[in-house]
Amino acid sequence: MKVKDVIEYILEIAPFKDDFGEIPKDDAIVFGDGNTEVQGIGVTWSPTVNVLKKAEKEKLNLIVTHEFLFWGYSETVWFNSGKDIMGKRPNALRHKILTENNMVVYNTHKNWDAAPGWGMCDAFPDLLGFEEEINRGRFIRVHKIEPTSVLHLAEIIKQKMKIPVIRIAGDLQKKVSKIATAVGGLGQIYGIAEEPYKLGAEVLVFGEVVDYAVRCCVEHGISAIETSHVLSENPGVKNLANKLKKQFKETKVVFLDASFPFNHII
Ligand SMILES: [Fe+2]
Ligand SMILES: [Fe+2]
Repeated sequence: MKVKDVIEYILEIAPFKDDFGEIPKDDAIVFGDGNTEVQGIGVTWSPTVNVLKKAEKEKLNLIVTHEFLFWGYSETVWFNSGKDIMGKRPNALRHKILTENNMVVYNTHKNWDAAPGWGMCDAFPDLLGFEEEINRGRFIRVHKIEPTSVLHLAEIIKQKMKIPVIRIAGDLQKKVSKIATAVGGLGQIYGIAEEPYKLGAEVLVFGEVVDYAVRCCVEHGISAIETSHVLSENPGVKNLANKLKKQFKETKVVFLDASFPFNHII
């Protein structure tokens, strides 16, 4: 079986629908060759140096990743970004492991987020135990639960996701029953609260969120709960790993956890 056979299967179960137009440029083999024979598949949220080291140990030569492989050049006045892409330390470290092990990296994103029933957008509320979907945007989901305070909801989410610390904004005592989820990095978009507000949500559970987006929630009268980018997307990553395991029974498939990156002090 070749790399391109695996990609063909992924695009079959997570197609780019009309909403996304053509297959975007960031959905591509970003390292190596599609005709390479697959020895083993590593499925990950991000191909960090640690993740690639795990892949090397497990003898996996195809990495299927949700997030990007190499840090790029930033056209910005705010810092002096190097144009020598492979000269950047993280890129050089990743590149060394990839070349030494003849690995191939396939980067696929929006279709995986949106894959019906098992992609990131549906897998996150599923992990949180939200069953009754009452509304949805393209990536936002809104579920109904028994009324509970924002604080109690945050405590439940913290336990379910096994996160050591969670940030909450807005009225903590407010009783809520309509919960929106904004998986992964959707909370990096400043004005994202507009959509869950229109969809009737009373609280928005993020993966990762920036300050502006939190304030936008609060000014829409919505409380905000932040979990983690990687931990909110890992359920969707695991789902794809399981699907590949079932489809390619003879091939070793491993979920490679990019893992929660923080420690904390209180
Ligand atoms: Fe995502
Ligand atoms: Fe993401």
